[in-house]
Amino acid sequence: MCGIVAYIGTKPAKDLLLEGLKRLEYRGYDSAGIAIINGGLKVARTIGRVAGLEALVENDADFDGSIGIAHTRWATHGEPSERNAHPHSDDLKQGYGIRVVHNGIIENYATLKQYLQEKGHSFTSDTDTEVLAHLIGELYDGNLETAVQSALREVTGAYAIAVICEKEPDVLVVARKGSPLIVGVGQDEYVVASDSSAIVAHTTQAFLLDNETVARLTRDSFRTTTVDNVELTPEIKELEYSLEQIELGDFEHFMLKEIHEQPNTLRTCMQGRIDAAGSKIVLGGLADHSDELTQIQRVLLLGQGTALHAAMIGEYLFEGLAGVPTEVEFASEFRYRNPIVEERTVAIAVSQSGETADTLAAVQEAKRRGAITLGAVNVVGSSIARETDAGVYLRVGPEIGVASTKAFIGQVAVLTMLAAYIGRRHHLGRDEMSDLMYAFEEIPSHIETILAQSEHIHKVTKGVVNRDNWLFLGRGTNYPVALEGALKLKEISYIHAEGMPAAEMKHGPIALIDKGMPVVVVATKGSQYEKVIGNMEEVRSRGGHVIAIATEGDENIHKHCNDAIFVPDVPEPLQPLVTVVPLQLIAYHAAVLRGKDVDKPRNLAKSVTVE
Ligand code: AGP
Repeated sequence: MCGIVAYIGTKPAKDLLLEGLKRLEYRGYDSAGIAIINGGLKVARTIGRVAGLEALVENDADFDGSIGIAHTRWATHGEPSERNAHPHSDDLKQGYGIRVVHNGIIENYATLKQYLQEKGHSFTSDTDTEVLAHLIGELYDGNLETAVQSALREVTGAYAIAVICEKEPDVLVVARKGSPLIVGVGQDEYVVASDSSAIVAHTTQAFLLDNETVARLTRDSFRTTTVDNVELTPEIKELEYSLEQIELGDFEHFMLKEIHEQPNTLRTCMQGRIDAAGSKIVLGGLADHSDELTQIQRVLLLGQGTALHAAMIGEYLFEGLAGVPTEVEFASEFRYRNPIVEERTVAIAVSQSGETADTLAAVQEAKRRGAITLGAVNVVGSSIARETDAGVYLRVGPEIGVASTKAFIGQVAVLTMLAAYIGRRHHLGRDEMSDLMYAFEEIPSHIETILAQSEHIHKVTKGVVNRDNWLFLGRGTNYPVALEGALKLKEISYIHAEGMPAAEMKHGPIALIDKGMPVVVVATKGSQYEKVIGNMEEVRSRGGHVIAIATEGDENIHKHCNDAIFVPDVPEPLQPLVTVVPLQLIAYHAAVLRGKDVDKPRNLAKSVTVE
């Protein structure tokens, strides 16, 4: 998804906007652009990275104005090109010097485009956003705010926009519906952005724009209204994140930093929520729903990508610990199926960003069908957090690397606590719960032990990094871990990888195995250990190169694999919290060894805010 940033104040806008774009670049990096009013309108756009845009304008004094908008793109409508880069303009012939940057999708843009073409408008790009800019121009009568309000009443879809107009050099108008937008409130200045990472360097005071809300900002005042011009009073709050949390520090990549942050972010996620001695879980965010959660009869887990893999682990935990029938769904499929949602169903949305459009729409669908909706979400105040009835924040801090790591551990940890919380209200015994929680509290230090093996994992990866097809196998809760390992490798190293239940391999995929093909098998001690060993032998007998994730002290494993990476011995329900870490590092080292851009993998974006 795109990143937008805008500024009105007393400082030169150019550098501030470029810095903001760099912080938002993980949201999309197909093209970048900036528009600043400095006497007249100055616009620059380029295909590719923000660095290219910076090179275009850094020594250009024309861009020294104190009001501007900027954008980094993840292409949806119209290929990555300068022509399709934002900001987009109203009609150049009959226009008013209006420029728009947009994150989201205008669904009815084709109809609006035809209407405007019949009115004589001519378009220069293939984007939906340019249509919105032209519509604002078409409705402009000297008041940018009302033109934006009127235009937004005509559009369907999702938008976060920032708009400036050459004729009103002291006014910045922003609006949102669906896509996130935050307004940072400073001294005689406002910094507006898709997320707080582009704001915290300037102010920690901000307000979130609600859905279908427009804000008119001048240097010393702001006004927020609905698109129907009903005045609103937003609540200004302290921003969640600090600047150093979003700095790279001594790490080469945010992904590696976030992998190494996992022991501490897991401690923060657990803090004040686990009472092992008292065999209790405390989740303040659920207090109002405690009775309902005691009576639930079915759990629905919803998510996409890595969040879906965490939800799949949740399915084992809710059935294993709570004894409640549980289903896990691709949110995008649940949304359009005719799902049967019986009474006393709780639908849990799992999401790092809290902005994934597929998952948000599935929450709205589950709600419409009568389910209690909960969120296991990382970003505070995000759309899913606001849409669900209640929830539990992951508290893992900002996740900048596009490949999700610490948020996955946070999601599995929260689902473990949720399952135990509901379990104690169903069948989970006091002692069983205590034992599990004591073991749970040990996980952060276990992860530290695994991180210390990064060099060994690098060596194991280097041995097979030139192979273009890999398999990942696991059983039970380690099956979704295998899926997650394959996803991490695919998304940052572009190696084709497939994860599957170990038993499924011999029903077809085993045909893929040839001499030296890397097959990563999660083979930790547990109820299915012997079965997994059998699967490893099936791979070896076809010449596959087996990399085993095994339990510390399991010397037997060496007989069945080419390489072994050991993790501490933990109870089976908690194993995903340790077995995934070596797979994160394998993917990371493979991507670095293959010279890939780890934090900004091609074609991807950190949160996908369109369906
Ligand atoms: C994971 O590394 C990817 N970035 C992606 O699959 C992600 O998990 C998915 O888009 C869901 O995002 P969310 O957790 O923000 O909802």
